Amino acid sequence: METKTINVGVLGCGNVGAALITLIDRDSAEIANRTGLRLEVTKIAVRSLSKPREVGGGAERFTTDALAMVTDPAIDLIVEVIGGIEPAREYITTALQAGKPVVTGNKELLANVGSELFGIAEDAGVDLLFEAAVAGGIPIVRPLRESLVGEDLSRIMGIVNGTTNFILSQMTEHGTSYAAALAEAQSLGFAERDPTADVEGYDAGAKAAIISSIAFGARVVAGDVYHEGISNVGAADIAYAAQMGYRIKLLAICERFEDRSVAVRVHPAMVPIEHPLASVSGSFNAVFVQGGAVGDLMFYGRGAGGFPTASAVLGDVIDASHNLVKGTHASIGKLVRERIRSIDELSSSFYLNIDVSDEPGVLAAVAGVFGAHGVSIRSMEQEGLEEHARIVLITHDAGESDLQATLKELSALSSVRRVNSVLRVVESHR
Ligand SMILES: NC(=O)c1ccc[n+]([C@@H]2O[C@H](COP(=O)([O-])OP(=O)(O)OC[C@H]3O[C@@H](n4cnc5c(N)ncnc54)[C@H](OP(=O)(O)O)[C@@H]3O)[C@@H](O)[C@H]2O)c1
Repeated sequence: METKTINVGVLGCGNVGAALITLIDRDSAEIANRTGLRLEVTKIAVRSLSKPREVGGGAERFTTDALAMVTDPAIDLIVEVIGGIEPAREYITTALQAGKPVVTGNKELLANVGSELFGIAEDAGVDLLFEAAVAGGIPIVRPLRESLVGEDLSRIMGIVNGTTNFILSQMTEHGTSYAAALAEAQSLGFAERDPTADVEGYDAGAKAAIISSIAFGARVVAGDVYHEGISNVGAADIAYAAQMGYRIKLLAICERFEDRSVAVRVHPAMVPIEHPLASVSGSFNAVFVQGGAVGDLMFYGRGAGGFPTASAVLGDVIDASHNLVKGTHASIGKLVRERIRSIDELSSSFYLNIDVSDEPGVLAAVAGVFGAHGVSIRSMEQEGLEEHARIVLITHDAGESDLQATLKELSALSSVRRVNSVLRVVESHR
């Protein structure tokens, strides 16, 4: 087999970039034997030339002139692993317009301006591949784009943020408080010093927007995603969930309905213990796909980390290089702007934890409010605390707006002291 050399320019040499360059430098000969492609990282663009680097190859390999690198005719393919929207968007646009395929792991960029960039790639007739942007090292983009392209996918649920899954797992398995689990995640390097993007669900939301776009062929952007984070999940919720046979997980849920409208949301949810997603623990990620013909599938693995993420980037680099050599490219297809359903239009079972006065007739009054809004109760337990009582209940499937109306009326009842928490419940058969 004739070996073709592909000169790669890498934008960024941080966690992912350094791991990718290390893999390519180490395995280039083996990759050439297996694929007929000799990958060579000839240029690396960074912000600072004075920072010590783990990757070898001498100072001439590094540059701070990223624009010169992406337009250099000696470079065949660009990898973007700097993150953020600008200047990544400018560099990628310039590279694509110069006829170079681009591989990126940048979820923030794709969830905001992906459609624009796919259009530019299509016009230029080159690849823009992004396996690493969703669930790090787990191959999910390619299966959705290729293996499952003929499937009628109606629902995809993912644990796609390792930080929040680590925090919830520590709270569940070791009784750790939210604050202590977050501090532990930060000290282990899973969580940023400002953890907002993770704990409030923005990171998972960006990934959910990308998953929905590929799986449903719909144009979904980060702003279309409904968000609730995990900062209000308390130890009591975790304990009640366990007693009732559930685990609490931060889920990204992407759904398409019969009228082709789409709903994309991120929120904590109670997952039945027998559901495959319930056993995804620690910083692991998983994506659970439900197809019309194939049934249920689950993709599980490392959703972050330099080497797992670099593995996904490397797969894309090889794929894009093959296409470049053949003079072809993969197409994401036309993303159609379908109607996005708001959270009020959705329904689910709900778990509620309510503190009430410990007096006769309270249970009936509370049940009456649910009944008045057509929300039927599946199970209800009352326990006496020192000065008051606590009602913990799970509803049957109920509309979000009916539940909101129920909550409003409950909080006006004199016997209701406080609605401590409300969580959505995932059914094992859905
Ligand atoms: N880390 C993960 O586990 C993971 C998982 C999935 C996806 N991703 C995605 O992969 C991307 C990179 O993540 P990371 O963790 O590797 O980031 P990182 O460790 O912060 O590295 C960023 C790199 O980009 C360089 N850089 C930043 N701005 C630049 C600019 N304007 N021009 C040239 N170089 C610039 C930095 O240069 P200096 O070194 O000189 O500062 C650094 O080398 C992000 O989009 C992220 O969302 C990461």
